[in-house]
Amino acid sequence: MDKAEDSILSREQFGTDFLWGVSTAAFQIEGAHDADGKGLSIWDVFSARKGKIKNGHHALDACDFYNCYKDDIQLLRQLNIPNFRFSISWSRVMPTGVLPVNEAGIRYYNKIIDFLLECGIEPWVTLYHWDLPHALEVKGGWTNRECVSWFSEYTAVCAKHFGDRVKNWIIVNEPSVFTGAGYFLGVHAPGRRGITNYIKAMHHVTLATAAGGKVVRNTVANANIGTTFSCTHIEPYSQKPKDIRAAKRVDTLLNRTFIEPILGLGYPQEDLKVLKRLDRYIIGDDRKHLAFDFDFIGLQCYTREVVKYSLITPYIGASLVPAKKRGKPFTTMGWEVYPEAIYHILKKFSGYKGMPKILITENGASFADTVIDGKVNDKERTQYLQEHLQQILKAKKEGCNVEGYFVWSLTDNFEWAEGYNARFGLIHVDFDTQQRIIKDSGLWFGKFLDPTI
Ligand code: NOJ
Repeated sequence: MDKAEDSILSREQFGTDFLWGVSTAAFQIEGAHDADGKGLSIWDVFSARKGKIKNGHHALDACDFYNCYKDDIQLLRQLNIPNFRFSISWSRVMPTGVLPVNEAGIRYYNKIIDFLLECGIEPWVTLYHWDLPHALEVKGGWTNRECVSWFSEYTAVCAKHFGDRVKNWIIVNEPSVFTGAGYFLGVHAPGRRGITNYIKAMHHVTLATAAGGKVVRNTVANANIGTTFSCTHIEPYSQKPKDIRAAKRVDTLLNRTFIEPILGLGYPQEDLKVLKRLDRYIIGDDRKHLAFDFDFIGLQCYTREVVKYSLITPYIGASLVPAKKRGKPFTTMGWEVYPEAIYHILKKFSGYKGMPKILITENGASFADTVIDGKVNDKERTQYLQEHLQQILKAKKEGCNVEGYFVWSLTDNFEWAEGYNARFGLIHVDFDTQQRIIKDSGLWFGKFLDPTI
């Protein structure tokens, strides 16, 4: 984008009700892995296993948000960010995953919520951002149908303790990613593999998402309830029918499998044969309990994928053609920089029957930042954010019901299996000293949110 276009982008264009924020997740920022009675989560266990995280990184301390939360929330205020999304660590408030509650864990989240409100920042709580208590994984984790009840009980605890002050709730974050990477591919916690684990986890997570929504609705007055999905714009590599069909299967798997049942449309079993295996685990009147009337749906879009037919890839018969191979620009995650993806995703989902308002609950980019003279001039990230906002604005002007945008993320943090080298923050973190530096992208975002300052 050139300078002229950049100067055209302003907060006002999105309307006064448009929500602006940043998103984070407990395991990626908190550290304090065993403080004050916290139990082990599947990510504590997985990240301690040799070879699972790049460069042998671990999240024992992460960004030490557990101790630095006041400073980080003050940085949020300094950047004029009015909404803060964070997740609750289930094993911090319920160390074994079930009752009794760890009062110290409740006190910790109360301190965060109270301090945010004191600073005039609205809390957005994600209940499940991938860190299942390890004690529940020992009993089968998400492959065990009982996980729906465990999750409902945990949700009831959070709703009861925090619901007097927290009005914005996200039930589950990116189910396709944590079930796919954690239960099918084994590259994320809990490191399990195979189609059976994956299909069972998929069904139980979907039931739990709807069940969790109901618990919050019944417990918290005037709650604004949503859940978030990872979405990737999919295109076929060529116009050959084989590639077009492969792209449709990947789109079904990545974009439709979790969102459609939640919206009351059922699983898209007709478009992806392997999903027929779900029938083995759908019992009683399960199909009636897959949907919930969410107030908003959070979409998280970072890129597009280009898909080719592949004979050797089981179940899906497709492979992804990496951006690098296609000669396109990409981030340190290898993800293509393709801002139009978010426009296509908004157009696709806002056309769905029964779709409530959409919030972009994550978007951002990791680049190889360097600190020079105490500054981080990350112009690629600023440009990435600006170009994505342009595309969101375009979709909004064309009638898409998109009402908010949250940047991933406030600070650099523990990027799961990638460790600390994938830096997504608006704020740079030196992980040896925990020193923070607001990057130029952060300064730009702060000024965009309040040009008078
Ligand atoms: C999706 C996940 O919700 C978040 O935990 C992750 O760090 C970002 N996207 C970037 O990969």
